[in-house]
Amino acid sequence: MENITITSTFTVYPSADALPADVNALMQQAVGARNNAYAPYSKFHVGAALLLENGKVVIGSNQENAAYPSGLCAERVAIFQAGALYPGVKILKMAITAASKQKPVESPIPPCGACRQSIGEYELKQQTPIEIWFMGETGKVYLSESLKNLLPMVFGSEYL
Ligand code: THU
Repeated sequence: MENITITSTFTVYPSADALPADVNALMQQAVGARNNAYAPYSKFHVGAALLLENGKVVIGSNQENAAYPSGLCAERVAIFQAGALYPGVKILKMAITAASKQKPVESPIPPCGACRQSIGEYELKQQTPIEIWFMGETGKVYLSESLKNLLPMVFGSEYL
């Protein structure tokens, strides 16, 4: 019998203002995307912005549906859009922000499990890490240097 211990490391920035300028610019694109969320049911508005290797920025926001499971998270809207528009172009960074119409969101909002799996697919495909920067509406920003910190033991095509 043996144990396997997996550790995850995140870098914490005190606020968006403390981010490197290029990342803050990407985060502001995520804020803009967040404002286009369609979230009449949860009233939880999420925005994501991806920086691609070709310099393009691709945004996404959560899109809800009266049939709840038919909606999609901001991160997957963005990453599928990147795959559709720029197949084969690497994704370097993802910025995520969330705000609620019902309460202040002051702590960093990480991607949900399904989004982690979807981001993982692209990280495995491109064979380079995707930086994931996430925050609430205000407050601290967390950086995960790779999806692997958020989803150790990601399921990938090598198991099929
Ligand atoms: N949501 C996202 O867009 N991303 C996440 O990672 C977490 C949740 C959305 C889905 C739904 O529209 C709302 O937030 C509440 O769950």
